[in-house]
Amino acid sequence: MRSAELDEFVEKVSERTDIYSVVSQYVTLTQKSGRYWGCCPFHNEKTASFSVSPDKGLFYCFGCGTGGNVFKFLSLIENITYFEAVKLQAQRLGIELPKRNSSPEQERRRREEKTLLKINEVAQDFYHECLIKTTRGEVGRKYLAARGITRETIETFRLGLAPEEWDNLLKKLTRQGYTVQQLESVGLIVKRKTLSGYYDRFRERVMIPIADIFGHVVGFGGRILTSENEETPKYLNTPETVLFNKRNLLFGLDKSNRAISSAGAAVVVEGYMDAISLFSAGIKNVVATLGTAFTPEHAKLILRYAKKVFFCYDSDEAGQRATIRALPIVQQAGADVFVIKIPDGKDPDEFVRKHGKEAFEELIKNAATLIDYRMNYVLTNTEHSTTQGKFRALQEILPVIVNIDNPITSNEYCKKIAAELFLDERLVADEYRKLLKQESSSKPKKEYIIKEPRTYSEEELRISMASEEILRMLWHEGDILDYVLTVLPQEIFTPCHREIISWLKNCVAQERRPDKISAAEELSEEANSELSRILMNGSDEFGKKEIALFEESLATLRQVVLMKKFYKLNAQAEKYVPEDEMTYDKTVKELIKIKAEVDNLKSNP
Ligand code: CTP
Ligand code: MN
Repeated sequence: MRSAELDEFVEKVSERTDIYSVVSQYVTLTQKSGRYWGCCPFHNEKTASFSVSPDKGLFYCFGCGTGGNVFKFLSLIENITYFEAVKLQAQRLGIELPKRNSSPEQERRRREEKTLLKINEVAQDFYHECLIKTTRGEVGRKYLAARGITRETIETFRLGLAPEEWDNLLKKLTRQGYTVQQLESVGLIVKRKTLSGYYDRFRERVMIPIADIFGHVVGFGGRILTSENEETPKYLNTPETVLFNKRNLLFGLDKSNRAISSAGAAVVVEGYMDAISLFSAGIKNVVATLGTAFTPEHAKLILRYAKKVFFCYDSDEAGQRATIRALPIVQQAGADVFVIKIPDGKDPDEFVRKHGKEAFEELIKNAATLIDYRMNYVLTNTEHSTTQGKFRALQEILPVIVNIDNPITSNEYCKKIAAELFLDERLVADEYRKLLKQESSSKPKKEYIIKEPRTYSEEELRISMASEEILRMLWHEGDILDYVLTVLPQEIFTPCHREIISWLKNCVAQERRPDKISAAEELSEEANSELSRILMNGSDEFGKKEIALFEESLATLRQVVLMKKFYKLNAQAEKYVPEDEMTYDKTVKELIKIKAEVDNLKSNP
């Protein structure tokens, strides 16, 4: 999307932006020797090592090494891309976005989508006002109060009430000029079956607005005020519309994403009311699915903000089955998965209301790992007192641990299973190995096999460790890519690393921060998992230690590059001796230069 207009736009926003006033909205800053200082929002610290220099338009943290311009700051703190940060700042300054060169058809569709979002917003306000201001709202207020939902929570989630009449919203919105087709397409009204005309979909229900991650209302969940009965379902939801797709939406994420990213973890619950209840109890990193199964899209959404996912579904059988189904999806997406067990009370809402925030935090602390949870699930749900039963249980459990990469961990689990089933350890280990073999032959792509310990030369090891260090740095600091590539030719890296580098290069060119989601989408499977491994092996911090390691690695690889060149030229020089005096001279000079650089690198690593 690069264009002169766009560059001009970025420049204009940049010119009018004062980094101090932006940063100070997030960080308390005090002035000292021409700079402003505060506690770094990107790592935990007690003394202020985060500095802002308004003259240069830059920020830098001496503690963690994070730094850059104002848009970098915004993108980090708001968890958005660089360009989204520019747009956000433009919006705050009231600068208009340059008109996109889109076709009239695209333009029309965008306008229509905006209108539809607006309709939902009007509906949200209508339901909300009805709940809090009108006498008709009394039933709703009573209902929510009885469930322990405070006025503040009602405001936070903009909860509402749909009145009992059949066409209240319909009348209001058509009076405002919206067409019935538009209202029908966002699911707010329904065509009558026999008579002509339409009626309001939601009546006599507590209304829960559902927003996308930007906070735009895209649909609603409506709960009946009475207890469930057979004719009326407990919840009525917006049907699938152009705006509303349950596979891609997580209730509450628009409000919880900051908390999710600072906690490094998200709590996933089943019900709207669970999410609302936990959030208002102070467990703010919570989202809920919309009454559907957990999808890979949901996993990707969460992974934008955090790596850990805690499932906290209802403790009834349905909830536990849903958990079991969700686990592999999240694991495959690359998250670290845990399961929270609610000891009493049916669901998280009941639990947190009864026992409070600290008790729930304790549950998070004691959450089971994915493997432990699945193991227990199998053990409690299979009959394993007889020999046959033991064998069946073993066949159920082993696939659970076959995904473990680390042979020591899988060995531990084999022992545990043997103990639980009163089986001989060797027998379990044998069965495990058989399964491993089977898995690896049926799925050649996945490397379940305990890898043959290939022996690497010391040189190879040094090179691969240094390359990893460099890739880690490039992931965090794309800006230095050009520099790195002037020092090191791409050929020094393995094909897989080269793929990662050229992808990172693309990210820089498109001014977006590389993230794990796009890595997963855009890289080959091999490169993606190699990247994950590299990132997992290193620290997330970027301080002096990491910078020193990076520089050392750069020097190591530079030496390798130079020595390769040296040997190649040396061989050539020998050939030139008899014939070409001039080329020989040139080559020797080049050799001397290379040698000098190598010696220099060796003495100042
Ligand atoms: N759900 C639905 N339609 C229903 C029942 C449930 O769409 N008839 C969805 C809703 O998204 C609901 C979720 O499934 O939030 C989980 O159901 P449940 O645990 O029963 O809902 P809660 O939000 O806990 O509702 P409440 O506490 O009010 O009973
Ligand atoms: Mn509930």
